[in-house]
Amino acid sequence: MATHDRTIQDGAPAIRARGLRKSFDEITAVDGLELEVRAGEIFGLVGPDGAGKTTTLRMLCGILDPSGGEAEVAGIDVIRHPEAVKPLIGYMPQRFSLYGDLTVGENLRFFANIYRVSKADRLAREQTLLDASRMAPFRDRLAQHLSGGMKQKLALACTLIHTPSVLFLDEPTTGVDPVSRRDFWKILYTLVKEGVTLVVSTPYMDEAERCNRVALMAKGRVLLCDTPDALRTRMRGDMLEILAEPQRRVRDLLAALPAVQNVQVFGDRLHIRVADAARDEAAVAAALHVPEVTVTSIRRVVPSLEDVFISIVSEDA
Ligand SMILES: Nc1ncnc2c1ncn2[C@@H]1O[C@H](COP(=O)(O)OP(=O)(O)OP(=O)(O)O)[C@@H](O)[C@H]1O
Ligand SMILES: [Mg+2]
Repeated sequence: MATHDRTIQDGAPAIRARGLRKSFDEITAVDGLELEVRAGEIFGLVGPDGAGKTTTLRMLCGILDPSGGEAEVAGIDVIRHPEAVKPLIGYMPQRFSLYGDLTVGENLRFFANIYRVSKADRLAREQTLLDASRMAPFRDRLAQHLSGGMKQKLALACTLIHTPSVLFLDEPTTGVDPVSRRDFWKILYTLVKEGVTLVVSTPYMDEAERCNRVALMAKGRVLLCDTPDALRTRMRGDMLEILAEPQRRVRDLLAALPAVQNVQVFGDRLHIRVADAARDEAAVAAALHVPEVTVTSIRRVVPSLEDVFISIVSEDA
């Protein structure tokens, strides 16, 4: 892909938000948000439904007026100059609307026109984007006839047609199959190599693991912000993984144990949080030593980001 020409000054953060707030009548969607995203990083915004991710992204893109606070993107005050920031950013909303009755090529042209991309730039950019997303053979296909994964790739290409330097993606791969998700991330890594800053909101913890830094959001606030590895060390206590059946009975037995702080189901496994794995493992094994339960394994595991998130959100509640 062409090297983009709007790089952010060395050392300056790509995004800075201070005390950012948004209320809708009595609902406070974003409640004094503090955020700093470095130029060239992949920054994840992770949080449950209603955490305020979309509202935050929309304010940072200059689409939604905040109720208070400050926000700067690519060195521009978004609140005072929302229009000035738009040529520098790309925003892929949670429900990106492609024009189903336009072809892949026509959709790209439509977005190029909105962003006033010159014809020469557009043709070059279109080719690069279609090649990078392996969509060139589908240039003449109607968007409504694309698979879910391809629709998302086209939406991303439309968001990139004007070569933005900061890219905001709101749950870009929700509902997309794992293979297409991997493809999609490959494109994102290419962009980052070119110096684009990425902000991605996601409900998927494996996607959060791909980010350089992650902000854990709940109730309109950032609870913690750090690298995935550092976040893992913030979790208090240890994580034990239990493989035992019948799961419901096992869950009840574990939940009743004083040593167990939290029980989460991950498919056929249970993750339980204890203060000290070395000390508490015996008590857990003893509690499951009943005739109706078959234990396959009990082992200490490195907490996943999901474990960390659940642990932190439940402490905050
Ligand atoms: N236009 C609006 N009018 C009223 N309330 C709103 C509006 N937009 C968002 N909210 C409320 O603000 C809160 C935060 O919503 P937001 O969409 O930002 O969360 P989110 O983290 O993106 O959630 P999701 O994972 O469901 O997309 C929610 O309680 C939501 O109902
Ligand atoms: Mg949302």
